[in-house]
Amino acid sequence: MNSLQSFLAAKPAAGAGARLAPSSRRARVSACLAAPPPPTPTAAAAGAARRELSAASLAVIEDEARYLVGTYKRSRVVLDAGRGCKLYDVDGREYLDMAAGIAVTGIGHGDPDLTATISQQSGTLIHASNVQYTRPQVRAFPFILLCPPCVRRIVPAGRLTLFVLVSQVALAKRLVESSFADRVFFANTGTEANEAAIKFSRKFQRVAHPDTDAPPAEFLAFSNCFHGRTMGSVALTSKEQYREPFAPVMPGVTFVDYGDLQEAKKVIQSGRLAAVFVEPVQGYLWAHEAYGVAPDIMTLAKPLANGLPIGAVLVKEKVAAAINYGDHGTTFGGGPFVCQAALTVLDKIQKPGFLAEVSKKGENFKQLLRTKLSGNPHLKEVRGVGLIVGIELDVPAGPLVDACLDAGVIVLTAGKGNVVRLVPPLIISEKELEQAADVIRDCLPALDAATS
Ligand SMILES: Cc1ncc(COP(=O)(O)O)c(C=O)c1O
Repeated sequence: MNSLQSFLAAKPAAGAGARLAPSSRRARVSACLAAPPPPTPTAAAAGAARRELSAASLAVIEDEARYLVGTYKRSRVVLDAGRGCKLYDVDGREYLDMAAGIAVTGIGHGDPDLTATISQQSGTLIHASNVQYTRPQVRAFPFILLCPPCVRRIVPAGRLTLFVLVSQVALAKRLVESSFADRVFFANTGTEANEAAIKFSRKFQRVAHPDTDAPPAEFLAFSNCFHGRTMGSVALTSKEQYREPFAPVMPGVTFVDYGDLQEAKKVIQSGRLAAVFVEPVQGYLWAHEAYGVAPDIMTLAKPLANGLPIGAVLVKEKVAAAINYGDHGTTFGGGPFVCQAALTVLDKIQKPGFLAEVSKKGENFKQLLRTKLSGNPHLKEVRGVGLIVGIELDVPAGPLVDACLDAGVIVLTAGKGNVVRLVPPLIISEKELEQAADVIRDCLPALDAATS
């Protein structure tokens, strides 16, 4: 499960059905939250016919198809509210969230502390540019950290220019004190963090090779990787469908089979590389810890602010020393709003025992899945680290994913479409994990229905 990518560039189906005026959103949400919880999804539910979509849902689906650029193939569910690991659609139907967006809402939905931080910070200061400092905010920081979405190992390369915001400083301090890094650059997304890493590594090489006009500027990346949608990240992404429609992409990227160390060594020894980009599966505080490798640059995004847009590039001092004022920058990155949110997320995830609990739940969940799904002829493997779990099948996983949605559990596909991806909020309970495993088991017949 090397790539966390699931949305493919496909046009959404045009919505069918009449468009009716949706009922009051506020009334719907409070109704669904106040109502007694719907019955836990069961085998009967799993075997039921596909959900009927309400007029309110169809209206949204129809408008989406009419007004948005068709970049996402969406599941036919219109979400309206969330609490913990539960999501609610516009009709008040409850879903167990085994996807966390796409591995984003690590502390779940509607966390009261995060909600308080966000509302407090929104009334204090949402935005200030990166050309000013802001007044210090006093916070006591216990430290440590989070599950990164990805790690890039970079062959060497600062002074971070920055005119920094205080919450930015506080978050940067937190990230530095809990990692290998000396400095941080904030971006808004994962792909922007990778773009910054591309620029930083090239600039590092330029400074490190002052006697040549052609310093090492190429990159090594690996099969089945996904690094984002902007032109540099697309160039580093191995799957052709992400690159070819937009060619010519940034030249100078060599792809090697993931795990082929011999071949990787050869490319590295060519002396042409600015950096090696690799995306291991996390499971530790930082994924590289599992491999005994210390990167010079590490990019992260996804769950850092639990759904508010953020990306970060953690670098060693030698990399930062190659970066001058004006070499890189961003209008929104590292704003006080998102940084305060990220600090609250980190407060939660660094609590003693939190990550150990995640590992324990992940191990139990994999075992549970192996037991409950064993004997199904389509099952190839249950694998994963921590609470990133993949169920590899010998057939496309789409019908199973759809059946789970109908039965009230949200899961995603991964890999070449033959893997069910389970990346729930890290706060999920053992009981909820068992519920997910039961529903997946009960929905397995959907695979046969689809192939027969
Ligand atoms: C491994 C990995 N890298 C990079 C990205 C790009 O992140 P973003 O969508 O925030 O630009 C993703 C997004 O799915 C990802 O899974």
